[in-house]
Amino acid sequence: MLVIVKETYDAMSKEAARLVADRLRKKPNMVLGLATGSTPLGLYKELIRMHRDEGLDFSKVSTFNLDEYVGLPPTHDQSYHYFMRENFFKDINLDVRHIHVPQGMAKDIDAFCAWYEKRIAEHGGLDLQVLGIGGNGHIAFNEPGSSLGSRTRIKTLTGTTRMDNARFFKTKEEVPRYAITMGVGTIMDAKELLLLANKTGKADAVKAAVEGPITAMCPASIIQMHAKAFVFVDRDAATKLTGNYNDSWESKIFQ
Ligand code: GLP
Repeated sequence: MLVIVKETYDAMSKEAARLVADRLRKKPNMVLGLATGSTPLGLYKELIRMHRDEGLDFSKVSTFNLDEYVGLPPTHDQSYHYFMRENFFKDINLDVRHIHVPQGMAKDIDAFCAWYEKRIAEHGGLDLQVLGIGGNGHIAFNEPGSSLGSRTRIKTLTGTTRMDNARFFKTKEEVPRYAITMGVGTIMDAKELLLLANKTGKADAVKAAVEGPITAMCPASIIQMHAKAFVFVDRDAATKLTGNYNDSWESKIFQ
């Protein structure tokens, strides 16, 4: 695991974007796993800028999103389909046929989840998976207690997660109760992981994920078992860490 601490959210986002762009230039048809939430917004903004100013080319990239709320149509402004379109897809040159976001309106959710796993495998697996982290240590919608070997499936959201995400909805009752999410095992199969976290509110979760015991009670802690996991944090999210960390992912021998 390589932990990179940057002074600000902006610097963290730009550094993470440089890593994604590096991988994309090396493999133009890379399979990119994407995350929603406020954390990766700066990364997406910088990748959009690189596309616009530097010609970063997404035309051959395939994407797979981590998760989606059950019951929200893609047109709902809180669906992850909508989020991805508005905050990333509409401003880059991805081929729409290469975009995959779980179908929260699927009639047969189990069949959809099996298809999603198959589709990832048909693409040769995820090259790089972007991750945020929930305040309770969740990754995607794998809540505490999730099997560390789990695959794409439907999950019940915890009260804490629904409260955390209520800020995006008019009332907290409107926050969906279920989501389709890649499993922890699905995420761990990605060749590289890029976990991002900022703000002091994430400091405990980051500490547990990076320096705590590996436990299903903090699903993000499983990244300690990944051979190529990058953790990008801003100074605020790093306040509880006690190890000596890096400020760049380049020219470092992978730890
Ligand atoms: C949601 C998403 C996660 C995300 C988390 C943190 O629960 N399913 O993938 O990491 O929110 O969101 P934020 O980045 O807004 O703190």
